[in-house]
Parts: sequence; structure tokens; C-alpha cells
Amino acid sequence: MLRLGVNIDHVATLREARYRGLAKGEPDPVAAALQCEAAGAHGITAHLREDRRHLQDRDLARLREKIRTRLNFEMGNTPEMVRIAHATRPDIVCLVPERREEVTTEGGLDVVAREDSIAKTRRSLNERGIEVSLFIAPDLDQIEAAARVGTQFVELHTGAYAEAFDQPDRREAELRRLIDAAELAYQRGVRVNAGHGLTVPNVPSLFVVPRLEELNIGHHIISRSITVGLSAAVQEMLQAMKGYRGSPGG
Ligand code: PXP
Repeated sequence: MLRLGVNIDHVATLREARYRGLAKGEPDPVAAALQCEAAGAHGITAHLREDRRHLQDRDLARLREKIRTRLNFEMGNTPEMVRIAHATRPDIVCLVPERREEVTTEGGLDVVAREDSIAKTRRSLNERGIEVSLFIAPDLDQIEAAARVGTQFVELHTGAYAEAFDQPDRREAELRRLIDAAELAYQRGVRVNAGHGLTVPNVPSLFVVPRLEELNIGHHIISRSITVGLSAAVQEMLQAMKGYRGSPGG
């Protein structure tokens, strides 16, 4: 079964637009996370950025305390964030690029260029029982590097696919890259998630990509929630994901 992780960062983006600098405000990302879980989401994804532009440290601590599914903590590979991960004990950390020099041309983490430091962080998280995922472009060199650092998961960046969605030739080419990347990761013993730019209309075409276990989706679900409500937005996405048959184990 394909699982859904809901990224609740943008709930905090809205709160910070009005309440930046104050330890209060609405909407509450933790209440939103609990509503996503009640609507059937399989996990909650939260990105604490270095500049704290949306989620704050207190949100992460409350998420850890309150949610009952899996907490996927997205973070840059920095000493500060590693310390926070050690203290928070999320179920999984997804390392994402935070600064320009960490990013490949397509927006994923450049694992090839930072193999040693990523391997060190991967080890320190695994030693504390925290699984690790790397957010990377569907690039075979990055997959090989991800396997070498010993990550449990990669999250394939679907941004280029989402951008190409309305142009059939480009869309097919991006799907081909995702298929090849997912297959190589699986052959190397690395489990496969995907995310970025996914929507109810563009998710079903992704079903040709094998081995997917989880999609992490934020912007579309939070946007839809403004018109249909958060529970309905989560349920619409779960419904759109239902036809997938490619997960390992069915
Ligand atoms: N996965 C990762 C690693 C992300 O950083 C994000 C947020 O940019 C997402 C998934 C969700 O992307 P979106 O908000 O476009 O659904």
C-alpha cells in the first residue's frame, strides 16, 4: 500500500504571516497534524528550517508528543539540526538541502558531493534508532551515492515531473527517470519514497513508478483545505493514491 505523509509546514507559514515572533497564533500546525491523522494520513512531515520561516522548535516538540503515526523530520545536515533530531527522536529524518551549495541542479540533495558528512549524520541518527531518508533527484549517480552512505530510504524529488506534467513528452521522460531511479534504489536495498509538487490530478500517472512506499505531500493538500477543509483534502488524496500496485509487498 502506498502511504501518505502530510507536510504541515504551510499551516505554520500562514500563522507566521501574522504572528511572527510570538509564541502563539493561528492556525496551529499540531492541531492540523492531528486532523490529518484522524482523516487517515499515515505520517506527518515537518521541516524545521534554519531561519524558522514556518515551523518553530516548539511545534516540533509538540508534534513529537502528540501525533500517533510517524513523525518524518525534514532537516538540513547541520550540527544544530542533528542535535535537535537527537533530542526529538523522530521516527525518520529526511535530509534536505538547506543552502545553495548542497543542491543539485534539479533541487535534490547533492549526496555525491557530500558523501562523508551525510554518512556520518546517517550513522549518528541510526545509532539512536532514527531511520534516514535522503531527498534526491531521480539521478542514478545520486542513488548510487545514497546506497553507499547506507541510508534506509531515498525520497525521489518529483518536482521536475510535476512541472512537466502538462507536456506529454517531457512528462514521459521524467517518469522514465523516476522508474529507473526507483528500480536502482530497490536493487541496492534502499527503500523508496517520493514527493514535491504532487497533486490529486498528477498522482495517478506516477503509478508506473515501481517500489514506492510513501508520498510526502504538503502544498496541494493545505491549499485544497482552504476550500474543502483539511479532512476532505487528505481523504481526496488518499482516494487518488488508492490504485497504486507497485509497493514492495503489495
Ligand atoms: N518532500 C520534501 C523533502 C519536501 O521538502 C517537501 C516540501 O517542499 C515536500 C516533500 C512536499 O512538497 P509539496 O509541498 O510541493 O507537496
